[in-house]
Formats: sequence, C-alpha cells, structure tokens
Amino acid sequence: MTPPAPSPAAPLVDGRGRAVTYLRLSLTARCNFRCTYCSPAPDGAGEGLRREDAARLVRIFAGLGVRRVRLTGGEPTLRPDLAEVAGDAAATPGIEEVALTTNGQRLEELAAPLRAAGVSRLNVSLDTLRPGRLAALAGRAADLPRILRGIGAAAVAGFASLKLNAVVIRGGNEDELGELCRFAWRHGAVPRFIELMPFGPGDPVPIAEVKRLLAAQGVRLEPDATRGWGPAVHMRGRAGPESGLVGFIGAMSESFCEGCNRVRVGADGALRSCLGGRDRLPLVPMLRAGASDAELGEAVRGALREKGERHDMGDASRGPLLPMRETGG
Ligand code: 5AD
Ligand code: SF4
Repeated sequence: MTPPAPSPAAPLVDGRGRAVTYLRLSLTARCNFRCTYCSPAPDGAGEGLRREDAARLVRIFAGLGVRRVRLTGGEPTLRPDLAEVAGDAAATPGIEEVALTTNGQRLEELAAPLRAAGVSRLNVSLDTLRPGRLAALAGRAADLPRILRGIGAAAVAGFASLKLNAVVIRGGNEDELGELCRFAWRHGAVPRFIELMPFGPGDPVPIAEVKRLLAAQGVRLEPDATRGWGPAVHMRGRAGPESGLVGFIGAMSESFCEGCNRVRVGADGALRSCLGGRDRLPLVPMLRAGASDAELGEAVRGALREKGERHDMGDASRGPLLPMRETGG
C-alpha cells in the first residue's frame, strides 16, 4: 500500500496505513536493576535524551498527530530531571496524556511529584511478591518492601490508571499469578501478564497457559471488552470476593501487532519503528546537526513507511534485537 503524500498536516501513518498516535521515549539506558530478561548489554549508551531534545521531539511528534507519550528507560526515575521532562511533555499542545513505566524502586518519593507534573498513567513492573525471587530476577539492588510502598504511594496519588506488569517466567513466577492479581486489585491497579520476549534468556509462557494457571490459582476469568492504548487484551477476573480487570500481552503467541499505533525513540536518540525491529534512524543526532522540524518529520515518515506488518522477534536468523534497555518495552 502506498501511504498518502507527505504534508505537514497529514497525520502520521505507517507503511500499513496504521495511524501512529503514541510516542514512547526512553530517557536513559541506565537501570538500577539487572532483570535477567532485559537486555544483557552493559550500562552505557550515554545519558539518554537531553531535556530540551525530549521537549522538541514531543512537539514535533505532536505536530504529526501523536497524542500520548510514555516515558520509559532503562529506568526513567534515575533521571534527576524526570518531573521536568514529564511536565514539558504534558504542557505540549496536542498531547493529551503522559504516562510512565518504572520499576518502582523510587516511586515512594516520586509518585506525588510526578502526578503533580502531569503524569496521568503509571505502569510499575512487579514480577513477584517474594523478596528472594525478586533478587534472583532483578538483582540485589531491587528492594521489594520499598517497591510495594511505592505502589502504595502511587495508589493514593490519584493516577487515572495504575498497572502492575508481570513478565511471566517459566520456573520463576508462574505459581504466583493469582496472588499478583489480588495484590493489584487491592491497590486499585490492573495486573498485566506479559509474554517473555527474546531480549534475554528464558522461555515464554504463552498467554493461553497463563490463563490456565490463573484458573488453577483461583482466578475465574470472564470476557471483557475493555481496550487500552496498547496491545493488551483484558478479561474480568474474580477470586472469591475480590475482582478486577486482568490484562494480557501476548507479544509472542497472539496478534500483538494488529492495531499497532506506536513509535519509539531510544535512549540512544534513535527512532525505532518497531520494538522487535533492527533498524534505527538517528533522530537526535540529526536534530543536533541542525535539521529543521520539517526535515525531522519527513525522516520520521520515511522510517515509518518501511514498517512491516508485525514484528519478527522470534526469528533469530534475522540477527540480534536492539537492546531492550535502550528501547524500554
Ligand atoms: N519480555 C517481556 N517484557 C519485558 N520487559 C523487559 N524485558 C522484557 C522481555 N524480555 C518489560 C518489563 C517492564 C517493561 C518496561 O518491559 O518488565 O514491565
Ligand atoms: Fe531495569 Fe526494566 Fe530492564 Fe529490569 S526490565 S533491568 S527494571 S529496564
């Protein structure tokens, strides 16, 4: 399919005609954790996007039709200027929502300031409720009681949406999926179960199996029509007197890419049209070399035109994926 002729007023569409309305910005490749399933690359890739570059990118993308921005990492809370970066994005004309993904370690002190800065939606990674398991999975720096206090602080800070993400790991956390649901619901949060993607070692647990595990762990699932911005499919879960939504992200086994509406800028300043792709466009280097907004917009359109129907993360013959730690999920 030939995309429409580029013009500044034309909304951003990818090569398959999908409107791109959602920008994910990775603010740093650094992380205080060492999750086994994340990129094995060492810390590096510089300090990530400068505040002024992030603000300009958000303005350019908003001009192209982007309405939602998610700040990711690495771990975005390692940026001392995170609230300012979030505030800049929230104040950008055309941007309706600013979201953040974090490992939760610094959330206790940051939940309220981030909410005040204009972050309205928060995703916290929570793979396990057992301290020993968390240490094995994310490294010794990960402090479960502190993360749980952070989630408590987020629950009272009044975010429009709070989600707790668990990557389901075979031999890791498959036996605590029911507990994770109940914990999330008690905090007014939506638990989401993510199939492991091949950025590191480990076997994915397919969503169909996750649902069977939930049933075996006392969570009855019923259909639910709730849709979010992303690829998550929801069901209504019930466990005794408790109930709530449950999200499923079938990155490997389900039609994850069908309604893809997103584009990413990594901590290396490069645009990625697909999470599971290998190509990157050096957007920030172009910006620093003096490219105009219009030139950057055209370069973005060009990169998105090449975007395929779906990711091919499962095809190892295509070469290594770009590091998760620079791309931010
Ligand atoms: N597969 C699936 N999800 C992953 N994440 C990090 N690495 C992987 C992977 N290999 C998740 C984190 C977090 C979000 C940023 O991405 O758990 O929730
Ligand atoms: Fe850090 Fe998130 Fe990667 Fe874990 S998955 S090492 S918390 S960036």
